[in-house]
Amino acid sequence: MTQKTWTAVDDYISGMLLQPDTALDAAVEASDAAGLPDIAVAPNQGKLLWLLARMQGAKRILEIGTLGGYSTIWLARALPPDGELVTLEYDPKHSEVARENLARAGLADVVEVKTGAALDLLPTLNGPFDFFFVDANKDGYPDYFRWALKLSRPGSVMVFDNVVRGGRVIDAKSTDALVQGVRRLNEAIAAEPRVSATAIQTVGVKGHDGFLIALVTGC
Ligand SMILES: C[S@@+](CC[C@H](N)C(=O)[O-])C[C@H]1O[C@@H](n2cnc3c(N)ncnc32)[C@H](O)[C@@H]1O
Repeated sequence: MTQKTWTAVDDYISGMLLQPDTALDAAVEASDAAGLPDIAVAPNQGKLLWLLARMQGAKRILEIGTLGGYSTIWLARALPPDGELVTLEYDPKHSEVARENLARAGLADVVEVKTGAALDLLPTLNGPFDFFFVDANKDGYPDYFRWALKLSRPGSVMVFDNVVRGGRVIDAKSTDALVQGVRRLNEAIAAEPRVSATAIQTVGVKGHDGFLIALVTGC
């Protein structure tokens, strides 16, 4: 199996199971036009986030790593009418593009984009959040996990993206800070009795990677 096949299968899945979506297409186009990197979740992954948030009945969602707001749109659409989503983004340009994309999607009143380093913004937030999507700098994942736990309640769900990194996650001696960030996330979760988690490898248009999904089972 090759990247070409993985991409074709993703295209097939999205073509079969996702509806055409002008707001999401416009967000991708505007993000490309503004020169943002092509590192948003894939359409079928966005739908997975929407499904998970819907299945959990999330009313308050915290996202770390906004980019142009593509995953943010998927997640915000999973909220009930009185729901809210806070998303944290380090880069002011990314934040600005995201705000425009969210406004175009009719979600400006539902989503607050906060600009700054997540570790500076997290202490200013009030929990609990029902659902977390963590998709920023991977070397920060262990700290983001500790903050998410602090801002959670029993029953909260956490999703961390890019936890397989083309298989490099199994290299204990890796000098890649991003790989080591994911490894330390796994160690922190494994040592935390209040959380139960697993990770699933994925292949697709985004290559070989994976999601970690965690449930807060206690306080
Ligand atoms: C992979 S992208 C997010 C993609 C987005 N979740 C999506 O799927 O549409 C990661 C984002 O995290 C941001 N980021 C990196 N370091 C950060 C930090 N310390 N605090 C907050 N955001 C950060 C980057 O600027 C980038 O926009």
